[in-house]
Amino acid sequence: MKIAPSLLAADFLNLGKEIEKINASEADFLHLDVMDGVFVPNISFGFPVLRGVAKACQKPLDVHMMTVEPEKWISKVRDLGAAIMNVHQEACLHLYSTVQHIHEAGMKAGVTLNPATPVSTLEDIISELDLVLLMSVEPGFGGQPFIRHTLEKITKLIELRERCGSKAIIEIDGGVNEKTGAELAACGADMLVAGSYVFGSDDLNAAIKRLKDV
Ligand code: DX5
Ligand code: ZN
Repeated sequence: MKIAPSLLAADFLNLGKEIEKINASEADFLHLDVMDGVFVPNISFGFPVLRGVAKACQKPLDVHMMTVEPEKWISKVRDLGAAIMNVHQEACLHLYSTVQHIHEAGMKAGVTLNPATPVSTLEDIISELDLVLLMSVEPGFGGQPFIRHTLEKITKLIELRERCGSKAIIEIDGGVNEKTGAELAACGADMLVAGSYVFGSDDLNAAIKRLKDV
C-alpha cells in the first residue's frame, strides 16, 4: 500500500522538523491540501508556504487542490516540482482540458470526487487519468470520521476502471487509520492519505509502517 501523509495535520510551528520526519520515514508521497475558503469552508496554506515545503521535502508531492478553478494553478503546482496534481471533478467546468494541461505540465493527473459524487461521472475521462482520489470525508478539514459508503465506491470504481481500460490508481482521503485502512485495502485501494492518524501518533514512521502493511 502506498501512503501519503497529509501535512494538514502537522505542527505548523515546526514545519521544518515535521518534514524532516517525513523525509526519514517510509512515506511514499507527501500529500498537500490547498484550500481557498470558497470551494471548501476552510483555508490551509498557499504557494509561499508550499515553495518552502517543496524545497525541504525529499518525497514526491501529491497536491490536492480544494479550490475553485484549479486549472489556474497548474503552472504554480508544476513549479513546485509536484509529481501528482489532484483536481476536484466538482470544481472543473472543462475537466478534459484541465487533465490535458496537467499532463502537458509534466505531472500525473488525478481527479477527486466528493463523497456524494458518483464514480460513474468519470466514465468519459477515466481512461485519461493516472489516479482517482475518492474523498471519504467532506473535504476541508482533517480529523473527521470515515464515511463507510466509500468502500462500495471503490468496488464500483474498479468495475469502471476495468470496463474503460483505465490504469488509474485509487487513492482514498479522509478518516484513514489502521482499521479503515485495512478495510480499504481489502476493497482494492492502492494509496491512502492519512493526516491525524500519522501526525497525531507518537512515532510517525511506526504509524506509516502500520498503514503500509494493512
Ligand atoms: C481533508 C483533506 C485531507 C485531510 C485528511 O479535506 O483532504 O487530506 O488532511 O485528514 P485525516 O486523515 O485526519 O482525516
Ligand atoms: Zn487531501
